[in-house]
Amino acid sequence: MLAVLDTWWGGLKGAEGATERALLLPRLYFQHFTTTSFLVERADGEVAAFLVGFLSQTEPETAYVHFVGVDPALHGRGIGRTLYRAFFALARSQGRRYVHCITSPENTASQAFHTRLGFSASEVKPDYDGPGLDRVAFTLDLATEPTASH
Ligand SMILES: CC(C)(COP(=O)(O)OP(=O)(O)OC[C@H]1O[C@@H](n2cnc3c(N)ncnc32)[C@H](O)[C@@H]1OP(=O)(O)O)[C@@H](O)C(=O)NCCC(=O)NCCS
Repeated sequence: MLAVLDTWWGGLKGAEGATERALLLPRLYFQHFTTTSFLVERADGEVAAFLVGFLSQTEPETAYVHFVGVDPALHGRGIGRTLYRAFFALARSQGRRYVHCITSPENTASQAFHTRLGFSASEVKPDYDGPGLDRVAFTLDLATEPTASH
């Protein structure tokens, strides 16, 4: 997964962006969050898409999507939405009501995608993840999400 990040994110924010992204996936995610994460592989075993998520330990009603990516060659085919819907179903089954995630203000594609899925976006939160690391925060209420009755 680390090997595809720069290509898939299109080099967003240059070398600094690459470092930020690489640091988002330390091994602990592949050790302790596998039951709430999804990996889509091609027939040859190459990574096609992933969603890394977890159930909040401190907020019993919250589930959190930490990182999501789809191979650019497969964009626009509903794979991102399918991954989120799988996560929504899992979160509901575990009694969660809200899904939270964040993205960079520069990542306008991510903002459009999350808004399309029904997330509400915050204003840009300056220094949210540390000095110079501004973020937009998204929230979705699973009780009103369109797949709630499915
Ligand atoms: C954002 C991302 C996950 C979307 O995945 P995807 O599989 O292409 O998205 P889907 O095909 O499921 O699209 C779902 C909806 O979002 C919309 N959408 C997706 N990408 C969009 C974009 N760049 N601009 C506008 N709308 C977009 C689709 O049009 C679709 O809406 P529709 O129902 O009206 O057709 C993918 O573009 C990606 O991996 N980007 C690079 C990594 C990244 O930025 N990750 C998120 C931040 S951590």
